[in-house]
Amino acid sequence: MDTTAIEEAPHDEQLATTLAVRAAVAAIDPVDAEQTDDPYAAATAEYYELLATAHWQRTGDELSDLLRDIDPTAGPIVDVGAGTGIGLPYLLSVAPDVEVYAIEPSKAMRTALHTRLLLDPRLRDRITVDPRPLGEALPDRASAVVMSAVLGHLGDVERDRFWRFVVDRMPAGAPVVVEVLPPYRPVVVEPVRYAAVPVGRFVYEGWQSGRPAGDRLMRWTMTYRVLDGRTVVSEQAVTSTYRCWSPDDVVAEVSPYGLTVTEHGDSVVVRRT
Ligand SMILES: C[S@@+](CC[C@H](N)C(=O)[O-])C[C@H]1O[C@@H](n2cnc3c(N)ncnc32)[C@H](O)[C@@H]1O
Repeated sequence: MDTTAIEEAPHDEQLATTLAVRAAVAAIDPVDAEQTDDPYAAATAEYYELLATAHWQRTGDELSDLLRDIDPTAGPIVDVGAGTGIGLPYLLSVAPDVEVYAIEPSKAMRTALHTRLLLDPRLRDRITVDPRPLGEALPDRASAVVMSAVLGHLGDVERDRFWRFVVDRMPAGAPVVVEVLPPYRPVVVEPVRYAAVPVGRFVYEGWQSGRPAGDRLMRWTMTYRVLDGRTVVSEQAVTSTYRCWSPDDVVAEVSPYGLTVTEHGDSVVVRRT
C-alpha cells in the first residue's frame, strides 16, 4: 500500500493515524467475508482476541450479574457464537458448578478458543465446544443463553428454531441475554479506531466503518493494521453484512412466542414466564 500519507502526517498522533487510515481505507480492496467459507477467517479472527478485550472488560461483569440467579442443574449456559472465548471466564464465575456449551462455527475463531481452553484446565473441564452453527448445535436444555454480538448474524429459520428452544427447553424465568448494540437502523459510520493495542514493538489497530445496505442491514468494513511507529507492517480489510436490532425489534420478534423482554444496558434479557 501507499504509506506516503503516514510518512508526511503531522506530529499529532491521533490526527496522523486518522489521516493514515483514510488513505488506507481508500487504498485497500477489502475481502468480502460472505464470499468465503469461514467469514471470520478472512481477517477478523487473527485480531479478535487482541482487540476485543476492552469491550469485555466493560461488559463482562454486567453479564455475570444478569446470570447470577440461574439454576445450573437445569442445564449448561449456552454461549452462542462464543468466538475466541473471551467471555467464558465471566460465565463460569456465576456458579461454581456451572457448565458452558460454547457454539462456534468458525474454524479460525475456534483455533483461539481451543488454545484458551488448553491453557486453563478450569475452563477445559467445564466447557464443551460445538463447531456447528446455532441451528444445528442446540443441546437438550439450557439454564441460560448468552448471545454477544451475534444476533445480527442469524437468519430467520435459525432464530425461529432458537426461540422455540427457549420455549420448550428452558425453565420459566431462565435468562437469554442478547447484546443489542446501536446503530439500531442503518446509518453511515465514518472510520473510527476502536482499539490500539501495543504488543512487543508493534501496535495493533482495529478500525470500523459502515454504510447502509438495506432497511435493516449494515455493511461493515473492518480494517486491521499492524504499525511499527508510523510504518504499516501489515494491513487487512474485510466487509460483511450484519442485521440491525433494537430492543423494540427483539420485543416484536419474541412476543409471538409468548416470551418477555427486559432491557439492561447494552443487552436485553428474553425469558418465558
Ligand atoms: C462478533 S463475534 C462475537 C464473539 C463473542 N460472542 C464475543 O462477544 O466476543 C460473532 C461470532 O458469532 C459466530 N457466528 C456467526 N454465525 C453464527 C451462527 N449461525 N451460529 C453460531 N455462531 C455464529 C461467528 O463465528 C463469531 O465467532
